Amino acid sequence: MKIAFFSAKLYDKEFFDRFNKSNEIHYYEAALTEQTVNLVSGCSAVCVFVNDKLNATVITGLKNAGVQLIALRCAGFNNVDLNAAKANNISVVRVPAYSPHAVAEHAVALMLTLNRKTHKAYNRVRESNFSLDRLTGFDLYGKTVGVIGTGKIGSAFCEIMLGFGCDVIAFDLIANKQLEEKGVSYLPLIDVVQQADIISLHCPLTEQTKHMINKDTIAMMKDGVMLINTSRGALVETSDAIKALKTGKIGYLGLDVYEQEETLFFNDLSENIIQDDLIMRLLSFPNVLITAHQGFFTEEALNQIAQTTLANIKAFESKEPLKNAVV
Ligand code: NAI
Repeated sequence: MKIAFFSAKLYDKEFFDRFNKSNEIHYYEAALTEQTVNLVSGCSAVCVFVNDKLNATVITGLKNAGVQLIALRCAGFNNVDLNAAKANNISVVRVPAYSPHAVAEHAVALMLTLNRKTHKAYNRVRESNFSLDRLTGFDLYGKTVGVIGTGKIGSAFCEIMLGFGCDVIAFDLIANKQLEEKGVSYLPLIDVVQQADIISLHCPLTEQTKHMINKDTIAMMKDGVMLINTSRGALVETSDAIKALKTGKIGYLGLDVYEQEETLFFNDLSENIIQDDLIMRLLSFPNVLITAHQGFFTEEALNQIAQTTLANIKAFESKEPLKNAVV
């Protein structure tokens, strides 16, 4: 099958070339947008990632070029207009799980770094500054951790937090019985938000969850709360988070995702003038840690992403049932 592969990075090419046997893959560094959709000419499938924009116009463009399959090489599909795909008879497949542990462990890395300030300690010690001033952290043991969304990633995160000796409380539309047996308590969202010392977001971005962390929910949180978001940027109303950082209401903010990330993340912009004032304000806080959507970025996950995506494409080509179909 001839595939137009968008937002391609060197590591994508490395892992897909490792497992690809029969497809003709055209790698494009550009994201799939209304401006780049003409690159799909002659291809039957597109392979896309989190920041490719598959709105109705792009999907009509895909249909007109003869594309029959959108193969997402990620789990989330909030960037695809599924109604438009359905209306144009284009199938959409995804990689529902690729090491949930990778993302859960990254959330823990953000927590530990913000808490124990290892990023600052590393720089200090390398400059022969062995002072401990202002590096004080807190014990995670005994703290209350609130988890919003206990699917594959949220469950893995809960288990790690239980291992740290934390009290884990959670909100999800469906309670996970195995987690309950291990000691996780499901509570209404408001109670989780009010009681947690640390809140970690692991639910998908939907109409219901967009900006779920806003001035009203932040107002209910404990003073100095730690907020971690490795899920999708738009779960958090960034300007409200900035206001809460300025007052100290949010004491620590760890982000692997950001609402306007598509113009920033996955690119080296170190010589550019960044026009996004919100992210620049966030970066000015000493208690904010941002990584550029690297939660998934482990050897195991990249192997899984390439293998599952290629298996999805093969199943479509051989007209087998699409077990990872979104539409
Ligand atoms: P999942 O589908 O296994 O779990 C999502 C959970 O959220 C489900 O239990 C669902 O019931 C729950 N949920 C849905 N709506 C909710 C709501 N309104 N309130 C509370 N809970 C709700 O998904 P998985 O694999 O755990 O991934 C979670 C999210 O993590 C993805 O949607 C994606 O946005 C993000 N992600 C981030 C990555 C990164 O590199 N930072 C990589 C992969 C996923």
